[in-house]
Amino acid sequence: MSEEPVKFTLSERDIPTHWMNLLPDLPGEPLPPLSPQTMEPAGPPDLMPIFPMALIEQEVSPEPDIEIPEEVRDAYKLWRPTPLFRARRLERELDTPAHIYYKYEGVSPAGSHKPNTAVPQAYENARAGIKRLATETGAGQWGSSLAFACSLFGLECEVFMVGSSYDQKPYRRSMMQTWGATVHRSPSTLTGSGKAQQAHPTGSLGIAISEAVEIAAGREDTNYALGSVLNHVLLHQTVIGQEAAAQMAMAGEQPDVIVACVGGGSNFGGLTFPFVREVLKGRASTRFVAAEPSACPTLTRGSYRYDYGDTAGLTPLMPMYTLGHDFVPPPVHAGGLRYHGDAPMVCGLVRAGLVEARAYRQNETFEAAVRFARCEGIIPAPEPAHAIRAVIEEAEAAREAGEARVILFGLCGHGHFDLSAYDAFLGGKLEDPEFSEQEMDDALARLPETPAIA
Ligand SMILES: Cc1ncc(COP(=O)(O)O)c(C=O)c1O
Repeated sequence: MSEEPVKFTLSERDIPTHWMNLLPDLPGEPLPPLSPQTMEPAGPPDLMPIFPMALIEQEVSPEPDIEIPEEVRDAYKLWRPTPLFRARRLERELDTPAHIYYKYEGVSPAGSHKPNTAVPQAYENARAGIKRLATETGAGQWGSSLAFACSLFGLECEVFMVGSSYDQKPYRRSMMQTWGATVHRSPSTLTGSGKAQQAHPTGSLGIAISEAVEIAAGREDTNYALGSVLNHVLLHQTVIGQEAAAQMAMAGEQPDVIVACVGGGSNFGGLTFPFVREVLKGRASTRFVAAEPSACPTLTRGSYRYDYGDTAGLTPLMPMYTLGHDFVPPPVHAGGLRYHGDAPMVCGLVRAGLVEARAYRQNETFEAAVRFARCEGIIPAPEPAHAIRAVIEEAEAAREAGEARVILFGLCGHGHFDLSAYDAFLGGKLEDPEFSEQEMDDALARLPETPAIA
């Protein structure tokens, strides 16, 4: 057996004690969200009907670090710290001098990074006396994670699952039900927002969010939980990057480039923010690459302006790259990347030139995922397959430059419930749905008048 390590593991004692808040590091004042009723800056009172105060405080906190409650760290022990791998076999397959590392979040009970925020969100809602959480899910990863977290803290969980994913992944539904959740196919006929969208039977994350927010806003004992986009969600995910930094130090290397996929921005933010802080403080010069689908190219083709987080326009408007809140992306298998907007914090970094965004077609991402699986064993979820595609490009560029660049990427989930997509790819039947510029322009034309963003 060679002496070369493949896995870098930490002990339970090394689970971070604090989440890392990048908000105070960002240049300038953060742009406030806007109230959907008045189009004026939204404050905590606008969020109180659907979120507990502890999470609202985290959303706007100016503190650089926020302590993780003991109960949450205890629950994190069920799967954290997660392993960091050196992809030595992939390096050999690609014949690259690059050193490729990946942080694997698929070891969580739900199979992705999403429980990192589901657990603190369920915890804070239970502490605030809430009885039920309503949410949306795209790929099924977030719904499963929240169902799992609700089962830990005695909460009921109601999930609106995007229609195309509901049909593609019936066992994700079984998983949520196993943890005690109720699952509805979205658009449903249970809400006004769902009834208004019956013409879009494949659904979208935006529609499912509207349905869940409508349920939460209408019931005193029910709150809403979002699996991405918001500052507090990205904050919770920084346990990934903090552990990765410690593990890269164990490996004796620093990443030259960090890659992750972006749907709403939470695994990207979680992995990169601790490293972005080092760059903003002038202590590192790491590059960051965000990978997204060319069928839903928010960061690469979207417009930077205020937009709603959901289709019906019930949520505050956020400053972000957007394809338009009622744009319905074609049904690619990476359901978690089918979102019209992205986290304002990630969008701000793209806008500032600190993060480079790239878009990939569905078939090229599955080709990369299969190549990865045949070297490293793990079958990636379709979402991180986008990151793997970008990593292969980076590794090839390193080979052409003859440089041993260090690449770190987020393998944010496994694809065990996505095998129908692999089936389609392996059978040569996977499509590359087209993005329609015209549909985006039409959706952008329907946005309300809001202040221009400088
Ligand atoms: C496995 C996986 N990766 C990525 C994403 C995209 O979300 P985010 O950009 O917030 O990480 C999702 C969302 O559901 C997901 O399930």
